[in-house]
Amino acid sequence: MRGAIAALAALLAANTAHAAGSVSGFDYSPALAKAGFVWDARSLERWIADPESLVPGQRMGFRVDDASERADIVAFLLTLKP
Ligand code: HEM
Repeated sequence: MRGAIAALAALLAANTAHAAGSVSGFDYSPALAKAGFVWDARSLERWIADPESLVPGQRMGFRVDDASERADIVAFLLTLKP
């Protein structure tokens, strides 16, 4: 359930050029809540490769090791832009 909510947060973030950690009602880590950047292709790619290196102290325990899979996921998320 928590993962599903996070995935939704991810989609919202990509969809609206949302600032990281700012979807109302989601219980972010303090680290992500104060991250203070806007998601784009580069930051999304870095996040799913190694979230901890992008935002130390974050809580997403999920990574995509394969670079071509990361590229596909980011390309998909960017198609959701209005
Ligand atoms: C390809 C799949 C995924 C993508 C693209 C993705 C992307 C993201 C993004 C962009 C955020 C930040 C959202 C924001 O700033 O509002 C986020 C947060 C988060 N995700 Fe994922 N995510 C994925 C899969 C998962 C999975 C499978 C889990 C759990 C099993 C998960 C758990 C979390 C959690 C807990 C957070 C909040 C982290 C924090 O508060 O520090 N994510 N994810």
